Amino acid sequence: MNKPIPFTPKQIQNLVRQYPTPFYIYHEQGIRNSVRALYKNFSWNKGFKEYFPIKAIPNPEIINILKEEGCNVDCCSVPELMVAEGVGLTGESVMLTSNDTGQEEFKKARQMEAIINLDDPNHLLYLENLAGLPEVLCLRYNPGPTRNNGLITWEHLVEDKFGMRKDQLFETYKQALKKGIKRFGLHMMIMSNDLNADHFIDTVKLCFDIAVELRKTTGINLEFIDMGGGIGIPYRPYQKPINLEDVAGKIHNIYEKLVSGGDMAQCKLFMEGGRFVTGQHGYLVTTVRHIKESYKRFAGLDASMADLMRPGMYGSYHHISVLGKESGGLKEIYDVVGSLCENNDKFAINRKLPVLNPGDIVVIHDVGAYGRSKVFDFNGKLRPAEFLLQTDGLFRQIRRAEEPEDYFKTILDWEVKDEKLINRI
Ligand SMILES: Cc1ncc(COP(=O)(O)O)c(C=O)c1O
Repeated sequence: MNKPIPFTPKQIQNLVRQYPTPFYIYHEQGIRNSVRALYKNFSWNKGFKEYFPIKAIPNPEIINILKEEGCNVDCCSVPELMVAEGVGLTGESVMLTSNDTGQEEFKKARQMEAIINLDDPNHLLYLENLAGLPEVLCLRYNPGPTRNNGLITWEHLVEDKFGMRKDQLFETYKQALKKGIKRFGLHMMIMSNDLNADHFIDTVKLCFDIAVELRKTTGINLEFIDMGGGIGIPYRPYQKPINLEDVAGKIHNIYEKLVSGGDMAQCKLFMEGGRFVTGQHGYLVTTVRHIKESYKRFAGLDASMADLMRPGMYGSYHHISVLGKESGGLKEIYDVVGSLCENNDKFAINRKLPVLNPGDIVVIHDVGAYGRSKVFDFNGKLRPAEFLLQTDGLFRQIRRAEEPEDYFKTILDWEVKDEKLINRI
């Protein structure tokens, strides 16, 4: 089964002539379409907002496209806050989702008047002493192994480092109220890359339960509920995407019942879908370097786990296409590997592919989220470039590849000796 590719082999051959592989390509129209689907399906909720998590793809050009589509952003660090600021997002268009967050991050977020999402009850006082309390406060809930409908359990959540228990959550809202904060939000993110729609609906129901109880016991009406991210994408060609229309419709029904029954006040719904928005619209383009036969058959690429961590780190499946050989059938079994001195540097194990030869261009699919943002420089690997396939059909480089100088630039008092070698690498 093939997966679609929004560019032709000829287009890539032209690009490769100018820019060496490996590099990332993002498909602008695809990204725009994914966000539009979110806004369309949640349009029943006045104030619905996607707070795109910058960590998924921290390139300001992409964040700018998302801003044009009406997105806000979720940040976790000073550089991510700077990306937000750089594209003109500030104030409550920015959320700082904290966990073991440091002073500088809290200070920068307060200076930008971002919404602050606290992960720990102790951080309320910490924040107050450090940078003063914000006007609007969001708290992150971890429901623990709560059951909803007896169908879904979240046993693993007691091991989860994120969020606070229900008793802590309620106590923190009360404390914040006493300290004069009047506007509140609730955040929950308990799933990741999940294609089971019930899990997402269950997450939102748990949030609604909190909103109802909070209103009853403290009089607090939540201004917003941030449903988090975690919606999966069909990495494997036979997987089905989540039916967003169905999910949003079911959430709408539950919401309407609670609001019309007076159990919950109207509130804005926020989402932080990263993978869902950009995941399927990124491609890692790489070239076959060598074919090796030992106890197995290996196809060695010029990309490695340093360019895409997910398969080596989590054993994640990423579909692989060989440009121009899509219709020739899958004829040989390969381990598709990179050149790191690590045995988990494998993009695929025992994958049936067309017969591969050195020089073939290979496209690794669905790398638009947590791809380029997780690269690393082990073995002196230089970080790859990023291109945008624009809506006008043209490619634009939106980040250059690293040069050897970039690898050395943080080493103090050290001069690169061999300029000629540097230029040759
Ligand atoms: C706080 C927060 N929000 C949103 C996301 C995005 O999740 P996803 O890309 O799975 O939708 C993450 C992912 O790590 C997260 O930690």
